[in-house]
Amino acid sequence: MIRADPQREWTGSVTTRTVPSVEDIRERLGAIGQEHVLRFYDSLSEDARQGLLQQIDALDLEGLPGLIEKYVRSKPDFSPGSTPRPASVYPANEGDAVRSWDRAYYRKAGETLLRAGKVAAFTVAGGQGSRLGFEGPKGKYPAGAVTKKPLFAMLGEWVLAAQSRYGAAIPWYIMTSPINHEETVEFFREQHHFGLNEDDIIFFPQGVMPSFDLETGNMLLAEKGVLATNPDGHGGSLRALAVSGALDDMRRRGIEQISYFQVDNPIVRAIDPVFIGLHVGAPDSSGEMSAKVVRKTDPKEKVGVVCSVDGKHQVIEYSDLPDELAEQRNSDGSLAFSAGSIAIHMLSVEFVQRLNNSAGSGGFALPLHRAEKKVAYVDFETGKQVEPSAPNAVKLETFVFDALPFADKALILETERVEEFAPIKNAEGNDSPATCRAIQTERAALWLETAGIRVPRRPDETPDCVLELSPLTATTAEDLQQREDLPKEIRAGEELAL
Ligand code: UTP
Repeated sequence: MIRADPQREWTGSVTTRTVPSVEDIRERLGAIGQEHVLRFYDSLSEDARQGLLQQIDALDLEGLPGLIEKYVRSKPDFSPGSTPRPASVYPANEGDAVRSWDRAYYRKAGETLLRAGKVAAFTVAGGQGSRLGFEGPKGKYPAGAVTKKPLFAMLGEWVLAAQSRYGAAIPWYIMTSPINHEETVEFFREQHHFGLNEDDIIFFPQGVMPSFDLETGNMLLAEKGVLATNPDGHGGSLRALAVSGALDDMRRRGIEQISYFQVDNPIVRAIDPVFIGLHVGAPDSSGEMSAKVVRKTDPKEKVGVVCSVDGKHQVIEYSDLPDELAEQRNSDGSLAFSAGSIAIHMLSVEFVQRLNNSAGSGGFALPLHRAEKKVAYVDFETGKQVEPSAPNAVKLETFVFDALPFADKALILETERVEEFAPIKNAEGNDSPATCRAIQTERAALWLETAGIRVPRRPDETPDCVLELSPLTATTAEDLQQREDLPKEIRAGEELAL
């Protein structure tokens, strides 16, 4: 008899090699009231039967009832341990009156680590990109403002530029999901790995979570022989790095630090020596996990805020931050809680390993976040596939920023939005291809102007042109100033890729 333990924390899914018997699986499912997922088992081909049993066996079945009770049948309330306080942040402007710091010193520290080949790039690209509604891996999205280069190419150029600048290999780890893994790997092959060394690009898929029926909390079938699942969130990367063997690979290559960024932000400073240097060298960093933030100016902006809770930095989602805190102002009128999280992190290999070592012993479990979504499913009565028109399912995910409080001292660095945050999330409106193009143009315009090039601007000050600047041309405004092949002037309405 297998007993379910409602108090058990969910420990995620694992892939097994041997396929258990249907009797064994039926008994385990029966114990947790989920045997309905075998409803069509008898009608399946032998291959499909094996596939389904394997998929079910890979789940932490005994942890499911607790999970369903806590996150599917109810909506857990968020409450930080004690009253959040504003995070302690390194300001974007190093000469800031509140806190000054020596950018050049930390840049040098980061460059030393890069030259010694101790830094890897890490892109999470396992998401479903449902808001954008683009078919296929999001990294294939044509994001270049002028060239329409895919996101993966724009990120890859950063890695390439950094490798040649520091004269060392920077292996690039890319987390996919079971849904887009093959297509992602194939795309890199087709594109000749964007000029990078194939052996230095390492792909691995993340884990998945079952999707649950919103009403009953039952697992759903996507097909008669396939459970409906979703990738387990970017937080799943911390576990996937370990179980995929990527962490071992890093150690073999002498990698100590990981530069983490998302696939949908093509202007991210994928490799930033200043951030790396602060993360490893600042007195208030334990060198385990750091985060970049941008300054929030609107208390209602839908972005998580890094706060300090019980002496630890922690991201609180905008919907969980009480209004009176979100609206609190400093004496100069700026928002007190202004550290908007933008999903750019440094992580040490040792930290990710430590988290994984403590998994299962009650040490490391990122909180689950619940989202109500439309998920196609098989009707258990009719056996027909249903495309729901309204949310019918609960998806559960973990978020990588929830690992921040596990670090002894997590460092927070502020950066300017226009310098490195132009995510493509939605097809239109905020954080869309259009806003991304506008920010790419604005950043290139600012850098060109710093280099003394005139950029035409409209009466509202936005550039009257479309600009795209490859990291192979410049990764900073200073880089651009060194170049002697720049145009003297940009014409109104011009589209220019540099
Ligand atoms: P988002 O939170 O924007 O989710 O991911 P998404 O899946 O890409 O898009 P929507 O919500 O369906 O519209 C932020 C980053 O985290 C990665 C994404 O690929 C993106 O780079 N991610 C997200 C994963 O790698 N795995 C996940 O399970 C979720």
